[in-house]
Amino acid sequence: MTILENISLKQYNTFGIEATARYFVEINSKEELPKLFDENKNSDVFILGGGSNLLFTQDIDKIVLKISIKGKELIEESDNSILLKIGAGENWHTLVEWCVQNNYAGIENLALIPGIVGAAPIQNIGAYGVEIKDVLVSLEWFDFETKKSKIFSNDECEFGYRDSIFKRELKGCGIISAVTLQLRKSTRALHTSYSDVLLELGANADTAKIYDVFNTVCAIRTRKLPNPSEIGNAGSFFKNPIISSEQYAEVKNNFPEIPSYNQHNSKVKIPAAWLIEQSGWKGFRRGDVGVYPRQALVLVNYGEASGEEIIALAREIQTSVQSKFGIVIDMEVNVL
Ligand code: EPU
Repeated sequence: MTILENISLKQYNTFGIEATARYFVEINSKEELPKLFDENKNSDVFILGGGSNLLFTQDIDKIVLKISIKGKELIEESDNSILLKIGAGENWHTLVEWCVQNNYAGIENLALIPGIVGAAPIQNIGAYGVEIKDVLVSLEWFDFETKKSKIFSNDECEFGYRDSIFKRELKGCGIISAVTLQLRKSTRALHTSYSDVLLELGANADTAKIYDVFNTVCAIRTRKLPNPSEIGNAGSFFKNPIISSEQYAEVKNNFPEIPSYNQHNSKVKIPAAWLIEQSGWKGFRRGDVGVYPRQALVLVNYGEASGEEIIALAREIQTSVQSKFGIVIDMEVNVL
């Protein structure tokens, strides 16, 4: 474990923003953590996962921990299911591909989501009708205060839409070192009802196998979302707002064509991409900052954009959506 100094973080964030880490250390096993904290008692740390959901607007005057804890362990196997413990530093999409190859069902809808396994539960990654909370049994957490590991059950993670306890009360208090998932060995009950997936599968929807769903999701994402290795981005920059049925009725009155998805407890989810597109931002570009032409929810860095430029555009979009629709859209990305 070597602590490096003044390291550029450009290659460690999918937005491709230039920022410098005062100190930088790569963690390859959870056993390294107590030692690191003993030796650097009063230092602030910043945890870097896959860097796929963050926006740097300044240098990081802390010890940046890059989580590279690897490993896949088969915990339990029955005729129908399998319990897998995965190191936090494994690449998420590579894990999805491996599960598809082995016919383990449950996360094929989450293909091509950038980032690492340990970051996935923090914002409860989700796509095409599936969230990680649907398959997560437990996770292992190293607590900075006690310097010990502890297990969180699915319930204890307090998952919500793009949300968990690790994004709120426990933010900056520890590190996820491993995640345990329960996957199905049966290929029945795949999630194919999300409209885009259903459309793409067409007549084959009923007989689709795991790899059909995986290929379909990859095809849709490749078509709609920019590849971070080609155009800097952090996926959806904003969350889809969830509003009350009263507010929805009011907005619907003025904008009858507004798309919506009913939630439980009479709330309504509105696609932020639609609100942003209707406010005239889709395809907008200023310097190297832009709104992706094929998905209005994604802000992009076409080259040398700074974090400040991106955040300035994000704020303009928020203000313009609010003044047109009276709806507040929150950022999904972690701004530093
Ligand atoms: N739409 C527009 N303009 C656009 C794009 C979409 O008006 O440019 C409208 C359409 O009405 C469309 C609706 O938005 O039917 C929904 O679009 P889409 O299915 O592409 O999903 P989304 O709500 O924009 C969410 C997730 C994505 C995830 C997709 C698919 C959030 C914040 N985003 O996007 O997640 O891939 O659903 O499940 O919930 C991510 O989190 O980084 C991410 C990409």
